[in-house]
Amino acid sequence: MTGGLGFIGSAFVRHVLRERADVSVTVLDLVTYAGNPANVAEVEHDPRYRFVKGDIADAARVDEAVGDGADAIVNFAAETHVDRSILDPEAFIRTDVMGTHVLLEAVRRHGIARFLQVSTDEVYGDVEHGASTEADAIRPRSPYAASKAGGDLQVLAYHATFGTPVLITRGSNTYGPYQYPEKLIPLFVTNLLDGEQVPVYGDGRQVRDWLHVDDHARGIAHVLEHGTPGEVYNLGGGNSRTNLEITRELLRLTGRSYETSVRHVVDRPGHDRRYALDAEKARALGWSPRVGFAQGLADTVQWYRERESWWRPIKSGDFREYYRRQYALR
Ligand code: TYD
Repeated sequence: MTGGLGFIGSAFVRHVLRERADVSVTVLDLVTYAGNPANVAEVEHDPRYRFVKGDIADAARVDEAVGDGADAIVNFAAETHVDRSILDPEAFIRTDVMGTHVLLEAVRRHGIARFLQVSTDEVYGDVEHGASTEADAIRPRSPYAASKAGGDLQVLAYHATFGTPVLITRGSNTYGPYQYPEKLIPLFVTNLLDGEQVPVYGDGRQVRDWLHVDDHARGIAHVLEHGTPGEVYNLGGGNSRTNLEITRELLRLTGRSYETSVRHVVDRPGHDRRYALDAEKARALGWSPRVGFAQGLADTVQWYRERESWWRPIKSGDFREYYRRQYALR
């Protein structure tokens, strides 16, 4: 698998090694800003775990990771943050488009029996009403979403053209432990724990559907095992909330007030108002989320409270420069 040191990838590594005694995992990861060896600390001495440092866009590295063979490749490696893609789209094209291409070629070359592409609900674009199904057109509207859509289209084209045994999962907004603090929930939680303000984009009435990272990891494992090649599966949490609703809940959980802690700032350009996923297809395959949102969010806040040793070094490093660049002019 790729991207195993990231947020969702590391949850998948921990999940698979815990649940499946018969499985071993090789992680190929470039250890970019968002990849963190601490995310897999609890499994790094497991004999079934192997790590290769490298770029998914580097075919020689991919070959080295595949080694004598693999039953499946699961691609978690990606540039994922919309706001970064607005500042610097090129890295997104390289990893999310070129990297996916290099992996698909490796799947063909090595005759690997399954390739699962971890994608996102953002490829569907803004959905004003209802919920996106897998049959809907994709209309990405940010450089990030367009790069993921480019990856997805190649994956589906390889299935049509070469019969490559591919699967795609499209997850909704994911939250939980080990999420890099550039994203809404961990950014707001860590700012609030530090008594700092939180930047709400625009009116804060944008809607996202939240999925716990453990449910997401379990969903990917489920689709990998039970999905039909060539198919796309939406993994939606079923927890639609406005950003303001999330913010108010986080204020409550950290004991902060709206008046002192919330700052409405200039909106993200091209900001999608609403994402919503129809996850019936994955449910019919036998997966459904288990973590209740209220409990999941409370546990996540508690995790960040207890794991300052994880996030404080991140927020005091290069992140400060990113934060200044991203938010100073808002
Ligand atoms: P984010 O976590 O970046 O995920 P995505 O853009 O992929 O959905 O953002 C979630 C929502 O929170 C999105 O509507 C943008 C909003 N947001 C803010 O209002 N302020 C922030 O500082 C961030 C990072 C996000």
